[in-house]
Amino acid sequence: MYPLRRNRRLRSSEAIRSLVRETTITPNDFLVPLFIVEGKGIKEEIASMPNYFRFSLDLLDKEVKELWRLGLKAVLLFVKVPDNLKDNKGTEALNPNGLMQRAIKTVKNACPDMLVMTDVALDPYSSYGHDGIIEKGKILNDETVGVLSEMSVSHAKEGANFVAPSDMMDGRILSIREALEEQGHTDTGIMSYSAKYASGFYGPFRDALDSAPVDAEEVPKNKKTYQMDYANRLEALRETEMDIDEGADIVMVKPGMAYLDIVRDVKNNFDVPVAVYQVSGEYAMIKAAAERGWLDHNQIMIESTMAFKRAGADIIASYFAKDIVKLIS
Ligand code: PBG
Repeated sequence: MYPLRRNRRLRSSEAIRSLVRETTITPNDFLVPLFIVEGKGIKEEIASMPNYFRFSLDLLDKEVKELWRLGLKAVLLFVKVPDNLKDNKGTEALNPNGLMQRAIKTVKNACPDMLVMTDVALDPYSSYGHDGIIEKGKILNDETVGVLSEMSVSHAKEGANFVAPSDMMDGRILSIREALEEQGHTDTGIMSYSAKYASGFYGPFRDALDSAPVDAEEVPKNKKTYQMDYANRLEALRETEMDIDEGADIVMVKPGMAYLDIVRDVKNNFDVPVAVYQVSGEYAMIKAAAERGWLDHNQIMIESTMAFKRAGADIIASYFAKDIVKLIS
């Protein structure tokens, strides 16, 4: 007797393994998140995100050119807003000469073909650190959607290719799409954070932008009234379906590694491109364990990326994008 099938034959050398490999990684898979600050000559490391930086606009120019040389063709912009410009309504988000608006122009000047996606949410602009306008301890949905729509048009005017609403208010995709169409921005796309969970994995990001919900009596302590309950799976399909119906071109699942079941569900149920976000806390965990020598940094970086693709992601937003592309090229 011998085993009816010797599966190990297809694993016996790197040559045969690479021949039968089902999933591959290329620079085309990635979306690079970038953090931007006011100032000049600034490239400051984020304490809880080792080897990840905030850039002032002059150095953003250099960074973007380097990304392009490495074959990375899409960036996702986030801005750190000075405290004195924050208020409850996100007024600064609409400033035609605001940091985001200048950042879009900077990237487009540096690299005209780079795809520019912009974060659309109030939290970096909110004195309360929330993604919506607050009244009597509640997040106001429709008033917030109004600001997000104006904000999207403001980004489109500066040349953003896609706006990426990350707030989870109801009805924002429809409202943003309508606003873009009315202002003639018919070519500006929407990548919706459709299934975004109220997750503990966003901690380091909130350090990066100084955007954590503030600790005050009248302010909700968490984002659970708008971001999704991580106990839920069907809700992700409902949210995603609505966003597609309202006009989303790309949908997203966030966070990543702990939510691969959701990525696969979304991939199996819809025919639009699916993005996944390997968020700041996932990055921080891997970095911290690798620094202690407890995990092999590069191996885990590639393994987690491969897992996103295997789960069905077409696009991966990751703080590892640059390192991965350097490693595989
Ligand atoms: C906020 C926003 C967050 C992230 C992207 N957009 C944080 C939050 O919802 O509190 C998190 C990204 C990350 O952790 O890497 N609109």
